[in-house]
Amino acid sequence: HPRVALPADIFGDRRNSTGSDLSSPPVLKAMQVAIEASRVIGFTAGDKAWPGRPVLNPADRRDQVGLVHEAPPEAVPQTLARAEAIAPDWAARPADARADILERAADLFEARRDTFVPLAIREAGKTMANAIGELREAVDFLRYYAAQARALPGTPLGPVVCISPWNFPLAIFTGQVAAALAAGNTVIAKPAEQTPLIAAEAVRLLHEAGIPPDVLQLLPGDGASIGGGLVADPRCQGVVFTGSTEVARLLQRSLSTRGDVPLIAETGGQNAMIVDSSALAEQVVADVLASAFDSAGQRCSALRVLCLQEEVAPHILEMLEGAMRELVIGDPSRIETDLGPVIDVEAEANLRGHLARHPARLTLPLSADAAQGSFVPPSLIEIGSVAELGREVFGPVLHVLRFDRERLGELVQALNATGYGLTLGVHSRIDETIDFVVERAHVGNAYVNRNIIGAVVGAQPFGGEGLSGTGPKAGGPLYLRRLMRAGPVPCLE
Ligand code: NAD
Ligand code: ALA
Repeated sequence: HPRVALPADIFGDRRNSTGSDLSSPPVLKAMQVAIEASRVIGFTAGDKAWPGRPVLNPADRRDQVGLVHEAPPEAVPQTLARAEAIAPDWAARPADARADILERAADLFEARRDTFVPLAIREAGKTMANAIGELREAVDFLRYYAAQARALPGTPLGPVVCISPWNFPLAIFTGQVAAALAAGNTVIAKPAEQTPLIAAEAVRLLHEAGIPPDVLQLLPGDGASIGGGLVADPRCQGVVFTGSTEVARLLQRSLSTRGDVPLIAETGGQNAMIVDSSALAEQVVADVLASAFDSAGQRCSALRVLCLQEEVAPHILEMLEGAMRELVIGDPSRIETDLGPVIDVEAEANLRGHLARHPARLTLPLSADAAQGSFVPPSLIEIGSVAELGREVFGPVLHVLRFDRERLGELVQALNATGYGLTLGVHSRIDETIDFVVERAHVGNAYVNRNIIGAVVGAQPFGGEGLSGTGPKAGGPLYLRRLMRAGPVPCLE
């Protein structure tokens, strides 16, 4: 759409990571060898003095990926005390020195592809392509925030707590940490319970690149006691959280008595794609498949409700169902797999519960091997109104809603009324329709005639409105400012 201009990356000649070309046979072979080699490595996270718990592959629970030692609640004050003690040293480092370390870390991350890609596959159930995307985005965040640190004046906050989700266990984990460190803060990182091992590898490399151990500490453990405990401690001077809206609300409440502690919260969505009768059906089907089923629907940006103009709905649904039947569901370490597992047994049970309560018009069959892991069949559920959506359904379940073109305004209003506002797609070849929807929708990221996932660091700053987040957008020019104070300004006569 010619009128939607992408903001340029304002920080010089930085380039995003090129990733790995899986269509090249030697690259693919090397990746397969790395995945097999990773099976004999005993990955660990956390202090070995803490109690250990096995971390299992969600695609096959017989595969133990490693061992996480989870922090007890008494580790919280000790960790914050270390972060506070070293904060002045780190804050005193010139911004260029901090940026140099983050750029060195980016190079190390790229060089350690054979560790990260297998871990993203085996610990988080990512497909090979998604695992590579995960590493690329982490590297992009490191270089982007390093470039910003060089350019922005400001004073660090002090110890910042970073709490991350399992669905981008490397990219979002690294993005949060890199931003807070680049701004001159010390960091305590609390990874998701499901994915501590890849986070621990990232922290090891950041230390190897030159971040002092007390400047960045990893505290794996329980959400409420460790994450909640860190945020409630008065030494915590800033919070970066990505995860559910429910937990973001708890954190906001916890911080409400301390008005000067910034909270960046990036949360869920009820993301829609609106398709009118002028849309190119083949393009719609390809973009719906990517938006709803890539990453097994476990992206905050993923498509939750496909809104089809009623005249074209039967035709598009027939094409979509045909395309869905071609999806390959199974072992994510195989190159041909389109969808891997959902993250754990609990997520599987929740999604299956939703499917039991809402009969699907299409549910794909799963193979017998799926019983070894947490797989959920990609499904289509027809609904009669936006109000039927309820809570975010975080998996490969797509709702479909038919709409009357004469009532497009009411549809956009109903989507706004969910209170969420993360991503939105519009498929139309009529400029007035595109403008009508994009101008009225309360969302952070609107995509026109394309899929609605995979925002690119530095080019498509990502983040939502309302229940979907506090802003500022990740990978955009305003993010680092939220993690700094403006500092004193000399006031002359
Ligand atoms: P979650 O809220 O359950 O957990 C996220 C993190 O919060 C984890 O590290 C968890 O241990 C911690 N946590 C849980 N309870 C806590 C508490 N009481 N106090 C402090 N920390 C606590 O979310 P999840 O299931 O890991 O992730 C999926 C959710 O994340 C989805 O809703 C998805 O839409 C959202 N998400 C949003 C974005 C975005 O950029 N907007 C990106 C990815 C995921
Ligand atoms: N940044 C991620 C995406 O756009 C969440 O899919």
